[in-house]
Amino acid sequence: MNGFALDRLVPAHVRAFEAYVPSPPDDVLRRRFGIAHLHRLNNNENPLGPPAACREILARWDPRDAALYPQGDGWHLRRALAARFGLDAEQVILGNGANEVIAFVIKAFCEPGDNIVTADRTFAVYEWLASFSGVAPRLVPLRDDGFDDAALLRAIDARTRLLFLCNPNNPTGSWWDHARLARFLDAVDGRCIVVADEAYAEFAEDPDFPDSFALMARHPNLVVFRTFSKMWGLAGLRIGWMAAAPEVAATVRKTSISYSVNLLALEAARAAVWDVEHIAATRAHVGAARARLGALAGRLGLKMVGAIGNFAMLHLPVADTVVHRRLMARGVMARAMTSFRYPGWLRVSFGSDEAMEAFAGALEVVLAEA
Ligand SMILES: Cc1ncc(COP(=O)(O)O)c(C=O)c1O
Repeated sequence: MNGFALDRLVPAHVRAFEAYVPSPPDDVLRRRFGIAHLHRLNNNENPLGPPAACREILARWDPRDAALYPQGDGWHLRRALAARFGLDAEQVILGNGANEVIAFVIKAFCEPGDNIVTADRTFAVYEWLASFSGVAPRLVPLRDDGFDDAALLRAIDARTRLLFLCNPNNPTGSWWDHARLARFLDAVDGRCIVVADEAYAEFAEDPDFPDSFALMARHPNLVVFRTFSKMWGLAGLRIGWMAAAPEVAATVRKTSISYSVNLLALEAARAAVWDVEHIAATRAHVGAARARLGALAGRLGLKMVGAIGNFAMLHLPVADTVVHRRLMARGVMARAMTSFRYPGWLRVSFGSDEAMEAFAGALEVVLAEA
């Protein structure tokens, strides 16, 4: 074979993209760091796991059903979500995690040469997906750790197709309220699709948190993302969803992949809709963990940010990458934020009480050593 020149076949924007490398599995990390147990506080998972009704579905599942394809577009789950939020089932599209839904909207609205607008320090997948699709990410600096409305509006131009607002923002936990989002949509005035990524919405207890589904009627350019990975404790099954005005959803449906959500995820998610006891228990756990982490930060003299979500960030007096490594050696994994444009910061998920205690103990020792 002489004619194979890989580079000739790979678009420049794919060649230029540096692939994301996920962390190795726990068994590999345990061996690498010589530890008996690893507490993962790096992925914002729910330590309470899924709601009781989901557990029952999983426990009762007949393994022979693994041979069957799932229903192709989540017929029943879409209806359950639509009923919960006063939507039509055609407005709801499911994906293999909200991550896949990000890919659907980029494919639906962007072509090479277009751009997306988002913040410089937010969930990185918007930027990554745009970059390796030949779509320029325009990254607007956060202001006071939150999305900056005026600067975002200035960044929109004639080639802007999508604007991603992470609300609440991962990793800072900052958020826009209903009035602010409504004002912003008025100002955008339909020039691009505005995606409100509400992966952590179920953690918001403030009544002023946006009712984005209601805003969609007046603003058909608004797309809302949700996930079953965070509040609902189904991250391992990979299921997320979006809702949009009917004509917008019909467009995204063209680029969505039927059958990409597995059978078990569909059934478990349907059982989760909309378990308010689970929400209350998770919020109570998160509230207590946030208070304890706040007290630790106070004792150690560290700045902490994070108003909403099952995570917070701590500002360290030494390099986050060094602290990360030393915490790993003590069996605790948090997220070092240098590669997410937050040098000196560590993001910590609110895990189990045991994991949070392990983190607190390890951090005190590591900072004392440093
Ligand atoms: C803001 C935000 N959006 C989307 C996702 C992706 O979620 P999923 O697990 O549904 O792909 C995450 C996951 O961490 C997130 O933090």
